[in-house]
Amino acid sequence: MTTAVTHAPSSDYDPFDPEVLKDVHLHDGTLREVAPVVRIDRYGFYAVTRHAEIQKALRDWRTFSSTDRPFYEPNPFRPNAPLMQDPPDHTQTKSVMLRIFSKDNMAKMQAYFADSASRLVDDLLADGAVSLDGYRDVAARYVLQVFPDVLGLPADGRELLLKFGDAVFNAFGPQNEHHHAKMRSGAPALEWVEANMKRELQSDGGIGWQLYTAADEGIISETEAEQLLKAVLGAGFDTTIFGISGMLRAFADNPDQWRLLRARPDLIESAFEEALRVYPPSRFGGRVALRDTKLGGISIPAGTKLLMMWLGAGRDPRKWTDPDAFRIDRHSAGSHLSFGFGIHTCAGQAVARLEAKSLLSALVDRVERIELTGAPRRAINFQAFGHETIPIRLVPAG
Ligand code: HEM
Repeated sequence: MTTAVTHAPSSDYDPFDPEVLKDVHLHDGTLREVAPVVRIDRYGFYAVTRHAEIQKALRDWRTFSSTDRPFYEPNPFRPNAPLMQDPPDHTQTKSVMLRIFSKDNMAKMQAYFADSASRLVDDLLADGAVSLDGYRDVAARYVLQVFPDVLGLPADGRELLLKFGDAVFNAFGPQNEHHHAKMRSGAPALEWVEANMKRELQSDGGIGWQLYTAADEGIISETEAEQLLKAVLGAGFDTTIFGISGMLRAFADNPDQWRLLRARPDLIESAFEEALRVYPPSRFGGRVALRDTKLGGISIPAGTKLLMMWLGAGRDPRKWTDPDAFRIDRHSAGSHLSFGFGIHTCAGQAVARLEAKSLLSALVDRVERIELTGAPRRAINFQAFGHETIPIRLVPAG
C-alpha cells in the first residue's frame, strides 16, 4: 500500500515585502490560514505557520536542525553560537549561558532592577500627568540603563546598542536595499560593540566578566566567550524594549485591562506574557530539515530550509480563543512561542521577565491610567516586531 504524499501548497507571499512589513500580523496571519506548512516560491524555503506544527518541529531538533536556515550568510552582526548550533556543541554553550542567568545571579539583579524602575517612574511623574513616548522614554530608557549595567558595559555609547540590534534583526532576510541600509546604519554600533567586548573592559562580576571566567576555567574557549557576549548584546536589547513597549501599547488600547491589573497586581507576570503573545518581539526563527519528514501532514524533503513563523502562531485561533484580544488573566506563560520552544528557547527570558515585572510593578502602584495620545508607529524590521513610537499619557494615581 502506498501512502499519499501531500506537497506543501505554494505561495507567492513575500514575508519581506515593504508592504507586508507594515502589518506583519495581518499578512503572516493570512499565510497561517493557507496551511500549516507553505512553500514560499520566491525564495524556495518553507514557512511553518501554526502553533502546533511549530511546537512539534522545535521539539524535534534532530530533524529540524539549527545549523542552517533561509538567507544564512556569515554576518558580523549575528554570531553563530548558540543559535546556530545543535547538540552536543549547543548543550555546552547553553549551559554556560544558563549558569550566567542562574537563580543566584537573578536574585542579585532583582533588587537593582526594582530600585531603578521605581526611580524612573518617580522621575517621570515628578510633575504629575505626563505625555511621553512609551517606546523611547519608558521602555528604551529603562532597558538601556539596567541591562548594560548588569552586563558590565561602559556607560559611554550605550545608545548605539539600539542601532546594533536594528542591524542584527534586519540581517535575517534577503539582501535587498532595506537590508543594506540597516547594515550601513549599524556599522558604527558594530564598531562600538567589537571594541567593548574585550576582556579587559568587562567590569568585575558583570556578565561579560563571567563569560571570560568560564573561558579561564576551560569550559568554553576565549572566542566562544566573546561570541556569547555578542549574542547576548544582539538578543537582549531590542527584544526586551519591544516587549515592554508593546505591553504599554496593549494597556493603552485596553484601559479595562489596566484597571484589572491595578485591582489584581498578582497578574503582573501574566500580563507581560500576554503582551508577548499579542506583540511578539521576535517574528520568526530559522531551521533546516536534515531528513525527509512530514509536518501537519505535509511532506518536507531533506535539505529544506524553513522559517518558524511564531508571530502568526501567537494569534492562531486553533490555539487561542479570541486570539486578538489582550487578556491579562489568560495565563499564557509557558504556552506561547514568543520565547521560542525546545532546546533553543530564549536563554535570557528570566532577565526579560524580571525587567518587565520590575517596571510594571513600579507603574501599577503609581499610575491610574495609560492613555494613547496619538497613533503608534511600528518599526519596519525583517525579524523583530515592535514600535518605534507610542505616544501616551501617564495619569498618576491620586
Ligand atoms: C522579551 C524579550 C525577549 C524575547 C521575546 C526573546 C525571544 C527569543 C526567541 C524567540 C529565541 C529563540 C530563537 C530560536 O529558537 O531560533 C531566543 C533565543 C535566545 N535569546 Fe532571547 N528573547 C528576549 C530576551 C532576551 C534577553 C534579555 C537575552 C539575554 C540576556 C536573550 C538571549 C537569548 C539567547 C542567547 C538566545 C539563544 C538561545 C539558544 O540558541 O539556545 N534573549 N530569544
